[in-house]
Amino acid sequence: MSLILAIESSCDEMSIAILKDKRELLCNVVASQIDTHRLFGGVVPEIASRMHVECVSTVLKTALQQANINMADIDAIAVTKGPGLVGSLHVGMQAAKTLALAYHKPLIGVHHIAGHIYANELVEDIKYPCLCLVVSGGHSELVYMKSEFSFEVIGQTLDDAIGEAYDKVGRVLHLPYPGGPVIDKMAAEGKHAYHLPLPLNDDSYNFSFSGLKSAVINLCHNASQRGEDIVPSDLACSFQEVALEVLVSKTIKAAKDYNVNEIIVAGGVSANKGLRQKLSQESPIKVLFPPMSYCTDNAAMIASAGRIMYEHQRFSPLDLSVKPSYDLEEESVDE
Ligand code: KG4
Ligand code: ZN
Repeated sequence: MSLILAIESSCDEMSIAILKDKRELLCNVVASQIDTHRLFGGVVPEIASRMHVECVSTVLKTALQQANINMADIDAIAVTKGPGLVGSLHVGMQAAKTLALAYHKPLIGVHHIAGHIYANELVEDIKYPCLCLVVSGGHSELVYMKSEFSFEVIGQTLDDAIGEAYDKVGRVLHLPYPGGPVIDKMAAEGKHAYHLPLPLNDDSYNFSFSGLKSAVINLCHNASQRGEDIVPSDLACSFQEVALEVLVSKTIKAAKDYNVNEIIVAGGVSANKGLRQKLSQESPIKVLFPPMSYCTDNAAMIASAGRIMYEHQRFSPLDLSVKPSYDLEEESVDE
């Protein structure tokens, strides 16, 4: 039995969730700043941290009200330690440390990607060994997990993350930030009409998306110099088809090579409908996706990973610092 209060503030969302036991989510309040950052075409770190400072108390109050819980009832405070934007992380960390100190609760520093992975466990138990495809704005990784909280990164992007590539292509197509969800929608309405190179189509488990992104940018510039119109939905479809081809084929290959029981998907891009459809259709191995509401950044996922760390008594000292960049493998129980 556990009651975990979790705080996530690694980028432009301030979120606080309260999780009872494994999957009874009492609240998951998310204060998004997307409308503000959209004016600038992307996240402005200084604005993100300032807005977190402004809203953290209100988000906490709302979370406690929605869950109908007092701080005294909470067993532990989980907080995203990193990776992420340093100023944004600091706000969540200071709030978590203050609550832990004032209410004498244990503190648990959680790796953001471990949170994305364990969003899946808010629905059903993960069956190990499994392979996790991590696809977010900052990460594109294949992680082999032989058991709970065991993380072996067997492949990763050599340049841009997939979400970053989606957002940059969105910018070229003059779409509102973040481009990912808009391109996903447009791709479903378009046809694969443009030739784009398959990125890093080799035997490794690594990815590369900057060449694909540049190919889209060049195609748009060349068309505009010739005075030709491009069909945005067709280009969105071609970009998505090519990106998903390499993501899906490498994930299935790795899952077979590592003889896993299931494939799980994590991170903001796990909301992509094309990815959900293609991977589910083509994989001979069971695929688990997080519920749509827990794909992009939220504190429910941090509570889920924090709950496991709580059970293993993996507490952090009160002088815990944020870690803007750090590897998932550092959090592995095998380390
Ligand atoms: O995990 P997340 O919320 O933040 C990071 O940890 O980076 O992921 C955000 C990323 C953004 O790049 C966004 O464009 C992308 O996830 N994203 C999508 C979709 N929904 C969110 N990309 C493609 N298709 C979607 N439906
Ligand atoms: Zn994330």
